[in-house]
Amino acid sequence: MSEQQLFKVTIDNITIEVPAGTTILNAARQIGGDVAPPAMCYYSKLQNSGGKCRTCLVEVSKGSDKDPRPMPKLVASCRTTVMDGMEVKNITSQKTIDARKGVVEMLLINHPLDCPICDQAGECDLQDLSYNHGKGGTRYDFNRRTFEKHTLGPHIQLHMTRCILCYRCVFTADQLTNKREHGILDRGDHSQISTYIEQNLDNDFIGNVIDVCPVGALTDRTFRFKNRVWFTKPVDAHRDCPKCCGEVRLWMRGDEVFRVTARKDQWGEIANASDGKTGWICDECRFEKKETKDWVIEGTTKVNRQSVISANKYIGVLKPPEFMQEVMDGVKQRYMLDIHNVSEVNEPEIRLDLIEGPAHSEDFEIADKERKEKENNK
Ligand code: SF4
Ligand code: FES
Repeated sequence: MSEQQLFKVTIDNITIEVPAGTTILNAARQIGGDVAPPAMCYYSKLQNSGGKCRTCLVEVSKGSDKDPRPMPKLVASCRTTVMDGMEVKNITSQKTIDARKGVVEMLLINHPLDCPICDQAGECDLQDLSYNHGKGGTRYDFNRRTFEKHTLGPHIQLHMTRCILCYRCVFTADQLTNKREHGILDRGDHSQISTYIEQNLDNDFIGNVIDVCPVGALTDRTFRFKNRVWFTKPVDAHRDCPKCCGEVRLWMRGDEVFRVTARKDQWGEIANASDGKTGWICDECRFEKKETKDWVIEGTTKVNRQSVISANKYIGVLKPPEFMQEVMDGVKQRYMLDIHNVSEVNEPEIRLDLIEGPAHSEDFEIADKERKEKENNK
């Protein structure tokens, strides 16, 4: 069998080799950290996803060794494959950073700012994206889109106003069921998710649309308004399920199971189960097994994503690799919350990421004492 051809690609000054046909986004994910562009519509577990939201735009400063001309416009990294010798700029490109701000502004034009009452708050990709790349204000003076309220059966709530039309739920419904129905109806700002999901509501796996939705457009009605995600504790558990892999994440408070979801990987996508296949879970596991006795508890989920969910229960902060500082051309590395810039309460010399577990007042008192001693000894 002939060996697969490898292409050399340099992303943000880091060179790696990837098989021909790999997209820039997936090559960047192999490097990891901030080098990987954000993705709101691409989902590696869904065929044909990507190319809709433009959050993954990058600058191609050299097309390839054969044709070194730069690409004239920023390209969607989830849909552009690497060429041998290609050079790509993501966080090292001011053009990309500016364009991403524009994309976030565009995505937020019609998205209601109802995070305080949205069940997705705390685990919303758009919330994270706006926090990291968004602008403080809007230039849009017109009214936002409105839609009739739509309830998709007893388990799933659709808030069309929050939808960013990423098509992930459409692909999920299409690829996990045997029926082919319409997905997004109409065009432009009238576009809306329609009969597609409703036609498939009787399918055992339709609940997975909740997990793939990057915003709060599709939420779990059995969990709705019951708790904020950051007050619940994620716990990995499994059961012997004849329909699905049975490997789930329970969101608990005390002994009460508030919600059951599939397990997610570091990119926020449904992780592979122990059999190596995508860990889609069935509706019975998701909506009907809400007792601890239904599950074999494996232990607390190791949360290390930059997310509010990890507050007070992270096992270890995902630190950027050593090389990142060098390649970032002075772009400042983000931690979970750069508290030094937003609060005077904290002492700048305290590295929160070096404190094991949650920080306590003693940590600051000790640092405060040391600082005062140093000042006195001067
Ligand atoms: S409902 Fe969610 S998953 Fe479906 S298209 Fe809208 S944002 Fe994407
Ligand atoms: S993730 Fe590439 S266009 Fe949406």
